[in-house]
Amino acid sequence: MRVYLDNNATTIVDPYVKAEMDPFFVEKYGNPNSLHAFAGETHLPLKTAMEKIYAGIDAPKEDSVVITSCATESNNWVLKSVYFEYILTGRKNHIIVSEVEHPSIIATAKFMESQGCKVTYLPINHEGIIEAQSVRESITDKTALVSVMWANNETGAIFPVEEIGEICAEKGVLFHTDGVQAIGKIPVSVKSFYVDYLTFSAHKFHGPKGVGG
Ligand SMILES: Cc1ncc(COP(=O)(O)O)c(C=O)c1O
Repeated sequence: MRVYLDNNATTIVDPYVKAEMDPFFVEKYGNPNSLHAFAGETHLPLKTAMEKIYAGIDAPKEDSVVITSCATESNNWVLKSVYFEYILTGRKNHIIVSEVEHPSIIATAKFMESQGCKVTYLPINHEGIIEAQSVRESITDKTALVSVMWANNETGAIFPVEEIGEICAEKGVLFHTDGVQAIGKIPVSVKSFYVDYLTFSAHKFHGPKGVGG
């Protein structure tokens, strides 16, 4: 018997999810935003699916869930949008990440560094997490963003995102958390703490590959 023990890398698509998706490959394939009958078959199911995502992360309606191809893309979008809006325009010149972020964050932070942005890579402590106090001490009036994973993909250590979010709110700094390894494992409610951006990836919680946000 083969035993699969690598759910942090990727998960099997839940048969229920597969059954829900099946009609939309061949039977119902219209662009949901078109103005003909084929679109009528997909428009409502797409809306229902989006409502399930909002409910799944307890996001208020005013929030904006943007679907991407994966969390790597989402993480790139978050950091690069901050780069274009704050760093390139000279409004700010600094971001903070942990040194154990996923390569999609570290590589993008390195890109920003190569473009003149200062990056602080916070070390983890003996419990495998960064301490909220070290975030507080690293923030300057030039800090645009703090980006810290919620749960670590290798150790499962859970970072103090609520506390870090509070510090960011107090200091007026944007806060992003890579929630890829948290969703499906611990309750995730974006209403319950301060966070500007949360990224996720469906294939980590029994959804299809190629869908993130
Ligand atoms: C913490 C974390 N962030 C981001 C990613 C990237 O996810 P994706 O495969 O959707 O690009 C992973 C995947 O291993 C991850 O563990």
